[in-house]
Amino acid sequence: MSRTAVPAQERATREPRVATPRRLLMCRPQHFDVTYSINPWMDPRKPSDAGLALLQWERLRELYLSLGHTVEVIEPDPAFPDMVFAANGATVVDGKVLGARFRHVERTGEGPAYFQWFLRNGYRDVLWPEHINEGEGDYLTVGRRLLAGTGFRTDPRSHAEAQEFFGLPVTGLTLVNPNFYHLDTALSVLSDDEIMYYPAAFSPGSLAVLRELFPDAVTASDEDAAAFGLNAFSDGRHVVLPQAATGLADQLKRRGFEPIGVDIAELLKAGGSVKCCTLELRDR
Ligand code: ARG
Repeated sequence: MSRTAVPAQERATREPRVATPRRLLMCRPQHFDVTYSINPWMDPRKPSDAGLALLQWERLRELYLSLGHTVEVIEPDPAFPDMVFAANGATVVDGKVLGARFRHVERTGEGPAYFQWFLRNGYRDVLWPEHINEGEGDYLTVGRRLLAGTGFRTDPRSHAEAQEFFGLPVTGLTLVNPNFYHLDTALSVLSDDEIMYYPAAFSPGSLAVLRELFPDAVTASDEDAAAFGLNAFSDGRHVVLPQAATGLADQLKRRGFEPIGVDIAELLKAGGSVKCCTLELRDR
């Protein structure tokens, strides 16, 4: 039987969006600080407030719990002020864990710290990677496919390593704007077949690939992208995103999603937001 694709906009008015409960890993920003600069958002001369970061992070964790998700936490290490960005710690699909190997020396110790957490928590199908990859910062799962960023952090050779390990198609995408240095700053997965993204963050060829795969994706304005609106977490119904990304929130509402704006601005001083703080444990 052939089935004509229903545009997302129309689908919103027909079927209610269904949230599925997720298991998430987060890391308290107890030692949060901006002491070095490895992306254009980080300026160590500007003051940052670990207390405020902690408060904003707690609210995000409580929001996830109130939405019915499970949140695991990993112990923060004072040596790593960026460890709050749990998304970078690994990629977990079907219960398989691909460890993270960081590009910058300031963060390299985080890879083993996260990997150990998985070993301690009973994960057995694990791979310590050969190539640099910054976890879910650059690997986003859409249905049974992975979208994989490169250009700033993750080595493109990692994409083949991930495809072989997970046994799922991996589609490489090249980022070209240093403000959007991880895939999860420029693209967000909304459901098993829908995404939103910032076109100007991608190379022409990668943009063409996105248009081919997701012709009716939501696209973000310069303002919403700069507010880190794409650094969002979706459970299929609720989309948690920085509250300043109001244009994206309106577009999501029109598609039947329930956007929930949060204030997590302190972490933006390190170049991270909602999704960066959230690693999804996709267990089998
Ligand atoms: N300061 C961190 C870095 O530059 C921020 C990481 C943000 N994480 C993310 N998943 N985009 O590495």
